[in-house]
Amino acid sequence: MPQCYLNGEYVALRDARISPLDRGFLFGDSVYEVLPVFDGRMFLFREHFDRLARSLREIRLENPHTHEEWHAILQQLFVRNGGGDMYLYLQVTRGMEFGRNHAFPLVPVKPTVFAMASPLPVFTDEDRAAGLSAITVQDFRWGRCDIKSTALLANVLMKQQAADAGANEAIIVRDGEVLEGSSTSVFIVVNGVLVTPPNSHRILPGTTRDAALSLATDSMPVEIRSISIDELRAADEVWISAATRDVLPVTRVDGAPIGAGRPGPAYLRLSEAFGALRQRLAGTPAYTAPE
Ligand SMILES: Cc1ncc(COP(=O)(O)O)c(C=O)c1O
Repeated sequence: MPQCYLNGEYVALRDARISPLDRGFLFGDSVYEVLPVFDGRMFLFREHFDRLARSLREIRLENPHTHEEWHAILQQLFVRNGGGDMYLYLQVTRGMEFGRNHAFPLVPVKPTVFAMASPLPVFTDEDRAAGLSAITVQDFRWGRCDIKSTALLANVLMKQQAADAGANEAIIVRDGEVLEGSSTSVFIVVNGVLVTPPNSHRILPGTTRDAALSLATDSMPVEIRSISIDELRAADEVWISAATRDVLPVTRVDGAPIGAGRPGPAYLRLSEAFGALRQRLAGTPAYTAPE
């Protein structure tokens, strides 16, 4: 039985309990992170915990742990779950109080801190060779999608719309502009140039997106600018990225092929560069405290 971390203790996931009065449950008053572990090493640890610190600051909730403490908590969690490859999910809620008041509790309450380890989704070589399919959907989320909030109902409905259409992802469009996927960042390649929309309150600043952009600058020009839905459909390549999946090719959008309908050459280069980055990082500490 997998072990999870809940408020300072490691317990069997089956036995973990939180109160129905928890504000995460009642209001979605909580933020989260997801980060992969490759070969027993957390990947992009600092980037994920800088983003968690930012999400917490934006919702005016004190970070219950330093980066060092988070590192120690999660290191022990994945060791207890057998190490190797997996992903870690962690969530911090504003805690519980008796009653149901939208405004923050008047008396300080302890945040709820939860973390669990899960197997990484598997993408076979055949999946990668065929590429994924996506549909486009209109944005109906709130105005602060840069906060990694657990209030994900709109994203849930969008992903289900994609699933109902037999597609893997829903690409979100607002006022004719492509923003991101329901749980991924989006890129296109046009005439050899890699393009992704700028960070704003409309998208989550993706850790994998930033890593992909740094890697791509070695092999192709990069532009950070808005992308129209017409450009998406006419692109030579479309990619999506997320921590548990790194970068994946999208070869069909709204039922029509992208480019040649196969993963393109720019994707194959980037995917190789990602593999090389993991190998370079293997054996180095996942986090070292600043001097
Ligand atoms: C809406 C949204 N955009 C982008 C991403 C990608 O972010 P990351 O690469 O840090 O996983 C996610 C990941 O969960 C997401 O939910």
